[in-house]
Amino acid sequence: MENLLKVKELKTSFQTLRGEVTAVDGVSFEVKKGEILGIVGESGCGKSVTSQSIMRLYNEKELVKYEGEVLLEGNNLLKLSEKEMRSVRGNDIAMIFQDALSSLNPVFTIGNQIVEAIRLHEKISKKEAKKRAVELLRLTGIPIPEKRVDAYPHELSGGMRQRAMIALALSCQPKLLIADEPTTALDVTIQAQIMDLIVELNQKMGMGIMLITHDLGVVAHTCQRVIVMYLGQIVEEGMVDEIFKNPSHPYTKGLIKSVPTTNTDVSRKLYTIKGVVPLLSEAGEGCRFCNRCEMATEKCRTSKPHLYSMKNEGHRVRCFLYEKGGDCHEAK
Ligand SMILES: Nc1ncnc2c1ncn2[C@@H]1O[C@H](COP(=O)(O)OP(=O)(O)OP(=O)(O)O)[C@@H](O)[C@H]1O
Ligand code: SF4
Ligand SMILES: [Mg+2]
Repeated sequence: MENLLKVKELKTSFQTLRGEVTAVDGVSFEVKKGEILGIVGESGCGKSVTSQSIMRLYNEKELVKYEGEVLLEGNNLLKLSEKEMRSVRGNDIAMIFQDALSSLNPVFTIGNQIVEAIRLHEKISKKEAKKRAVELLRLTGIPIPEKRVDAYPHELSGGMRQRAMIALALSCQPKLLIADEPTTALDVTIQAQIMDLIVELNQKMGMGIMLITHDLGVVAHTCQRVIVMYLGQIVEEGMVDEIFKNPSHPYTKGLIKSVPTTNTDVSRKLYTIKGVVPLLSEAGEGCRFCNRCEMATEKCRTSKPHLYSMKNEGHRVRCFLYEKGGDCHEAK
């Protein structure tokens, strides 16, 4: 599959009262046309900063410094002017979040917001655009869309609002959709429905999707490839089947062990990875996972592992255990 997005050595640093903090530290990955790529990791590992950096949503004058490259079909977004970037946000990349209320405008109807978005990049009449808005709402599974198109965001249920936000995101026919924990605020049944909707839209419309989630179960059902992040870096990457069958990084192994399964014995406590994620400012000289890793050696405390390529293509692991092993060799 062809590459849609290629992120190369992305580094995002913030100026804070405690000095400079590098929240994303040398992250490289690709999203191919039409694929759903999952990004997982515990809270604070840099998933949202990665996606917001791709969209360049932070205040660049004061707060943030981006390094590396973010290539959308070969065009480096980090080099665009703010005006050009606005056009990328309106036309090429769309984003959906956990909280639809904060991305929908409370004073306009759902229909008005979709009509505005359509007319920003296509010269069609309001009437025509409203027809399109109704179709988009229908596509996202909103019942009686001819009526709901005139509803205000607060008049819809949480699940319906999430669908309306997806319809709004799709109105510009984006090449890339970034979904940052799109279902976390919803109850389990609605979560599953929204995830099914995202997969269906990916199949119908063929856009690339970056799906950020805490939930490995969601990744298993939805994504083809997955990236595991820890403290601002990628620690493992590969095809979903491969990662679930053959998780290699001790952190990924821990994450997978801590997912409840249908045959988990409820009387037994679920596995949890010991310790907590350290602060970014505490990341020392060695492997960032070494204070929690049961396999850590002296070397892990003093030197940094690279991402090493495993036998299966595209499977990469940042851990010294795979530095030389059998078929493994260091990634370029
Ligand atoms: N605007 C900011 N200024 C300074 N530090 C920030 C800023 N935004 C995020 N960070 C820091 O960057 C790190 C990564 O945050 P991020 O929001 O990407 O985590 P996450 O993986 O999305 O977590 P969650 O699963 O909780 O959403 C955190 O340590 C956070 O404190
Ligand atoms: S490099 Fe060492 S500390 Fe880091 S994950 Fe591998 S074994 Fe554990
Ligand atoms: Mg986040």
